Amino acid sequence: MNVVMIGAGYVGLVSGACFAEFGADVVCLDKDEAKINALLEGNIPIYEPGLDDLVKRNVDAGRLSFSTDLESTIPAADLIFIAVGTPTRRGDGYADLKYVYAAAAEIATYLQGYTVIVDKSTVPVGTAREVHRIIKKTNPSADFDVASNPEFLREGSAIGDFMRPDRVVLGVESERAEAKLRELYRPLNLMEAPIHVTDLESAEIIKYAANAFLATKISFINEISQLCEKTGADVHSVAKGMGLDGRIGKKFLHAGPGYGGSCFPKDTVALIRMAQEHGVSSRIIESVVEVNASQKARMVSKIREALGGSEADKTIAVLGLTFKPETDDMRDAPALAILPALVDKGALIKAHDPQGIEEAKPLLPDSIAYMDSINETVKDADAIVLLTEWNQYRGLDLAKIKSMMKGKVFIDLRNVYERHLMEEHGFDYTCIGR
Ligand code: NAD
Ligand code: UGA
Repeated sequence: MNVVMIGAGYVGLVSGACFAEFGADVVCLDKDEAKINALLEGNIPIYEPGLDDLVKRNVDAGRLSFSTDLESTIPAADLIFIAVGTPTRRGDGYADLKYVYAAAAEIATYLQGYTVIVDKSTVPVGTAREVHRIIKKTNPSADFDVASNPEFLREGSAIGDFMRPDRVVLGVESERAEAKLRELYRPLNLMEAPIHVTDLESAEIIKYAANAFLATKISFINEISQLCEKTGADVHSVAKGMGLDGRIGKKFLHAGPGYGGSCFPKDTVALIRMAQEHGVSSRIIESVVEVNASQKARMVSKIREALGGSEADKTIAVLGLTFKPETDDMRDAPALAILPALVDKGALIKAHDPQGIEEAKPLLPDSIAYMDSINETVKDADAIVLLTEWNQYRGLDLAKIKSMMKGKVFIDLRNVYERHLMEEHGFDYTCIGR
C-alpha cells in the first residue's frame, strides 16, 4: 500500500513513520525544504520521544522516505493524507484552511488511478466536501474519494498514542475508501482498537468535540481549584474523589496554569466560530476559553503575591517553558502569557527547559536569560516557578536548591511537590488548589 503524507510536522511525521512501521510504503512530503533536507540527512526536526529510532528503522527498511516533489510521489499513491497546519486565522479565530486547500489543489493534477484523499488535519465541518470540490474542479477526470481521519495523538507520547489508540475515526462516503483505510489500519486489529466508521461531517465534529471536552475538564478543575484554595480543600483529593466515578474518569483533571499547546487553544476558538457560523450557541466552550485565559492571569497574581506583592527587581528562576513535558513545542504555552507580564513589572527572569529554549527565545522578551542547567537557573534566585512538570524537576535536590537560592519562595504551578516536604526544607511554598 502506497501512502503519501502531505506535511511532515508533528502529526505527519509521526503518522507517516507509524504507517511505515505497520508495513506501508510511505513518503512524507513537505514544502519546507530545510525540513526535508534534515530528514534526508537523518536528523529529526522536532523533539518527540522515540521518533528518531522509529524513523531510522523504517528508512533503513526502505519503507519510509522524504520528498518535496509531488510529481514523482503522488501518481503511485493509494492514500494521500493531508496533515498540514490549521492555525487560528489572524483576526477572527476561524481555523485557517489555506494550507489544506492549497495541498488539495497541488495534489489534484498528479492523481492517477483510484486514490483516497484523507484529511488528517483538524478541520471544521464541511472541509472534506470543499477538498472534494477543489480536486474535482482542478482535475475533473480524477478517480478519487475524500475521507476524514482525525488524529488524536498527544505530543510527548505521540508514537504510543498512534500505535495503541483508544479509537480510530473514519469519516467515509464510499465502501472503496473505507476498505482502503481499514486495510491500512489492519495491524491495529490485533489489539482490537475500535474503528469507528461514520460520515464525513460527524468525523470532523468528533475531533473538535473531543478536544473541547478535554479542555472543559481542565478548565472545570482549574475553576474548582480556586474554591479549594479559599476553603482549605485539596484539589488533588477532590479530583481523585470525582474521578473514581467511572462516568467522570480521573484523566485530565490536573489543575495547572491553564491548558496550552498547538491544539486546545486554537480548536476551542475554532469550534466557537464554527457554531456561530451555523447559528448555534457554544456557551460552555466560550466559558472554557475564558476560564483558561483567567487561569493564566491568575498565575501572574499568584507569583506576585508569593513575592510579597511585587515582582519588581526580583530574580525568578523558571523551570520549564514548553506547554507540557516531553516536547519542544512552545505554541500557546502558558509561559508566553505569564512571563511577559512578570517582565513588564520589572522581574528578572532566568529560565531553563530541557528541549524548548530555541523555540522559546523568539517568542519571549529579550531580557530573559536562558540557562543550561537547573543549578545555574536557581542560583541567587528570589523565587522558583515550576511551570512545566518535566521529569528533571520532579526529583529536585531540595536542600541543595534551597542553599543556592537567595530567597525561599517556591511556586509550584503543576502541584508536583507536597507542602509538608517543601516546608521542611524551609521553602515558602505556593501551589494550585491545595
Ligand atoms: P506542523 O506545523 O508541525 O506541521 C505542518 C507541516 O505541513 C509543516 O511542516 C508545513 O511546512 C507543511 N505544509 C504546509 N503546507 C504544505 C503543503 N501544501 N505541502 C506540503 N507540506 C505543507 O503541524 P502539526 O502540529 O503536525 O498539525 C497538523 C494538523 O494536525 C493540524 O490541523 C493540527 O490541529 C492537527 N493535530 C495536531 C496534533 C499535535 O499534537 N500537534 C495532534 C492531533 C491533530
Ligand atoms: C491534545 C489532546 O490530548 C490530543 O488527544 C489531541 O490529538 C491533540 O491535543 C491535538 O488535537 O493536537 P496535546 O496538546 O499534545 O494533545 O497535549 P495534552 O496532553 O492534551 O495537554 C494539553 C494541555 O493541557 C497542556 O498544556 C497540559 O499541561 C494541559 N493539561 C492537560 C492540564 O492542565 N491538565 C490536565 O489534566 C491535562
